[in-house]
This record gives sequence, structure tokens and C-alpha cells, in this order.
Amino acid sequence: MTKVLVATVKPFAPKAVEAIQAVFNKAGYECNFFEKYGSQDDFVAAVKDAEALIVRSDKVTPEVIGAAPNLKIVVRAGAGFDNVDLPSATANEVVVMNTPGQNSNAVAELALGLMVYQARSQFNGTSGSELYGKKLGIHAYGNVGRHVARIAKGFGMEVFAFDPFIPNETMENDGVVVCGTAEEMYGLCDYISLHIPANEHTKESINYDLMSKLSGAATLVNTARKEVINEEDLKKILEDSSEFKYLSDIAPGNAEELKEAFPARVFFTPKKMGAQTAEANINAGIAAARQIIAFIEEGDTTFKVN
Ligand code: 3PG
Repeated sequence: MTKVLVATVKPFAPKAVEAIQAVFNKAGYECNFFEKYGSQDDFVAAVKDAEALIVRSDKVTPEVIGAAPNLKIVVRAGAGFDNVDLPSATANEVVVMNTPGQNSNAVAELALGLMVYQARSQFNGTSGSELYGKKLGIHAYGNVGRHVARIAKGFGMEVFAFDPFIPNETMENDGVVVCGTAEEMYGLCDYISLHIPANEHTKESINYDLMSKLSGAATLVNTARKEVINEEDLKKILEDSSEFKYLSDIAPGNAEELKEAFPARVFFTPKKMGAQTAEANINAGIAAARQIIAFIEEGDTTFKVN
């Protein structure tokens, strides 16, 4: 019987857990859930019998992979797989997949929710502003970016996007104005929503030079990754521009300092929560389970990322 471990320090919603279990029961697989674990060592210890592993942002390090001699496949139930050590997986002949698109709407709704929260003065009862008619720049037009564009248009925002990897016509067909450079887009927009992955090209790429292209009163929303922001530069921009705002569901390393210095202009959720909805958990969890079964039974490697 194939043994699957679902290791989620931030557990899936109960309905998603049931749905994942049902998919594996039907296939005759053994599926164990290892949730809210205390340390990386506990994760390393728990993985030893697993042939397949489902994770969220859990860190699949060389130690985790090395501790699981029977491991054949890791599925990151979500989009970003920067938490999985791909070289180590590849060296150990472990296939790594993600489940693109399955949690994107949830992340997009949170991004717009953060914009409304800030526009309405963090719901403190004072007069705020509206999103209607404001210019929104979407930095990277992947699955999440597309949902952000759709929802933002519902708010009556003017939507711009920059993504050198997506054909212009994809964005134009969605009624989005394509920008040739990130700098151009930052120079135009009242709001920027980040949807770039974390990798060696994007790490700290949201730096002083780029953020200084924003108007002083702009709002930057990051539901992508902590690593893409240069945190010192973020602090400098908040100091320079007395109306600049930064909101994120992945708090920077200097979050406490920023909250103390700029309480009305920064906001961080207590946990990464873009994909924290029952729907996103069900979609991504079921997709991950099905991808594992298709791989084990038929060798299907659709969504392989290594
Ligand atoms: C993703 O990359 O899919 C999102 O950032 C969601 O991450 P999570 O599963 O840890 O909430």
C-alpha cells in the first residue's frame, strides 16, 4: 500500500483534509496527516516511511529528502515551490510538482482585501478613499495576477501589468494595459500588487530604485514572497514618503520596527494567509492527491518542476 504523508505546519481546512483522505482511500493508499508540527526535526522524523509527500510552505530540505529513502514524489499543494530543495530532490530521483492555479483566487481576493483595508484607513472609522478609478499595477501576470485583474476591474480600477514572460496579447485580451518595464508601471500606479515568485533573479528585486518610482502616496501589496523585498530599502521608502503604505501577508524581518514607526501605513497578517480558504485548500489538496496517484499509477509527470 503506497504511503502518503501530508505534512502541513499550517493545516488544511478540515473539509480539505476529508477530501484528500477520501481521494487516497478510494485509490487504496495509506494517507497520514502530520499537522502543526513543532520543529523541522519532527518533520524529518515523520517522513521516513513516506513514498509520496504533500506539503504547503513546509520546508522540504535535503535532510527531509535524505530521511525518506522510499520517497518518489513531493507535491507542493500551491504555486510557489521555493520551499522545496529541487537539486536535492533531483539528485535523489524524487519528482517535485506544484498545483498551479488551484489557490490563486484566494490569494487574489486577499490582495484586493488588503487594498480596501488600507484605503479605508485600516477600518479605524476615519474617512478613507476608494479603489474606483485608481490605477493598479500587477507585477507578474500569472494565475494570481489574472484573478487580481478580474477583481480589480470589478472595483472600477484601471489595471496595468508588467510580465516579460507572458505574451502581451494575453494581458491585452483581459483589458489590461501592458507596461514595458516594471519602472514604467511603478511610475504610473497608485497601487502595486506583487505576484512574482522567489528565485535568484527576484530576490530583493523590489528595491529602493524601483520603489522610489512610485508616487509618494502609493500602496504596495505583497502577497507573493517575503524574499522579493529589500527590507532595508522598504524602511527607507517609508521614511522618505510620509504617505507610502506597505501591506503583506508575509511579514518582513523588520516587521516590529516598521509597525512601531509607521503603524497607520503598514499591516501584516499574523500568518501567511493568501491561500487560507477552505476552497483553496480543497482545490490544491485534491489536485495534489490526484497528481500523486496519476504519477504512481501511470507515470504522469504533468506539473513536474524539477
Ligand atoms: C502558494 O505559493 O501557493 C501560496 O503562497 C500559498 O502558500 P501556503 O500553502 O503556505 O498558504
